Amino acid sequence: MRQIGVQSRNLKQQSEPSALVGVDSLTKVYRTREGSKVEALSPVTLDVHYGEFLSLIGPSGCGKSTLLRLLAGLEEPTDGTIRWRDGAPSRGTDIGFVFQEPVLLPWLSIHDNVRFPLDVFGVARAEANARATDMLALVGLKDFGRALPKELSGGMRQRASIARALVYRPRLVLMDEPFGALDLLTRDRMNDELLRIKAETSATVVFVTHSIDEAVYLSDRVAVMSPRPGRISALHTLDLGSDRSEMLKDTPDFHRWLSLLRRELR
Ligand SMILES: Nc1ncnc2c1ncn2[C@@H]1O[C@H](COP(=O)(O)OP(=O)(O)OP(=O)(O)O)[C@@H](O)[C@H]1O
Ligand SMILES: [Mg+2]
Repeated sequence: MRQIGVQSRNLKQQSEPSALVGVDSLTKVYRTREGSKVEALSPVTLDVHYGEFLSLIGPSGCGKSTLLRLLAGLEEPTDGTIRWRDGAPSRGTDIGFVFQEPVLLPWLSIHDNVRFPLDVFGVARAEANARATDMLALVGLKDFGRALPKELSGGMRQRASIARALVYRPRLVLMDEPFGALDLLTRDRMNDELLRIKAETSATVVFVTHSIDEAVYLSDRVAVMSPRPGRISALHTLDLGSDRSEMLKDTPDFHRWLSLLRRELR
C-alpha cells in the first residue's frame, strides 16, 4: 500500500531554490468601515514551486482570497514579505488572475476580450491578434471569437476568462474558485481542460477551491488552511502521478486523499 499523508508542516524557512515565489510570515489585518480590525491571515509561510499546481482549501472566510490578492499585489500585507525569485513581477503581465465569475467586457467580442491585456500593454496589433487567436484555440473557443460574452454559456465565458488570463503567458496564474458557479459535469470538463492547458503552457497555478475532489484531482500539492485567522495547517504533496484522468477518481489512492483532507478540514 502506498503511503499517504506525508506532510511537511508549515515551517518557517527560506524559499527553496525551486520556488517561483515565497511568502514569508505574511499577515493581513483588515479595517472594517466601522473601524474594527479583522485578522484575516495569521502568519502564512509558503513556497510556490515552478510549474506546480498548488491548491488552497479551507473553510469560508479563512483568508484564501486574501492570500491570492496579496500574491497578485492587489492588496498590501500588514506584515511579512513576498519574495519573487526572478524579481518583482509586473502586475499586468506576469500574473494572470481568474475570478469566480468570468469578468469580461460585455461590449467587446470574445476575441477582443482575450486580446485586451495585450492592447493595454502596447503589443503590436498583428501579434496581439495572433496570440489571442492561438489562446482561443487552446481553450476550445476557436469558432466563437466574434461572439459577444452574453452569447456564450457560463463554462465558455469562464474559458474565455482563462484565455485572457493566460494570453500574456504569465509566470503565475492565480485562480479563485474559477469553476464554483458551474454545474458538476461542466466543472469536470473544465478541470480536464485546465490540466491540458497547464501542460501546454507550463504555467504555475495557485488554485482556490471549496471542492476537495477538485483539489485532489488537479493538484501536485494541497495546502489546507485553518479557520480565520487563516494559516497553513497542513501541506501535502500528492503522490497521484501526472496522468490525471477520470479513472483516477475510482482508485483507492484518490479516495484516501479525499478522506484525509476531509478529516483535516473538519
Ligand atoms: N476588504 C475587506 N475588508 C474587511 N474585511 C475583509 C475584507 N476582505 C476580506 N475580509 C475579511 O477577511 C476574512 C477572510 O476573507 P477571504 O475573502 O480572504 O476569505 P476566503 O477564505 O476567500 O472565504 P470564501 O471561501 O468564503 O471565499 C473574512 O473574515 C472577511 O470578512
Ligand atoms: Mg474567497
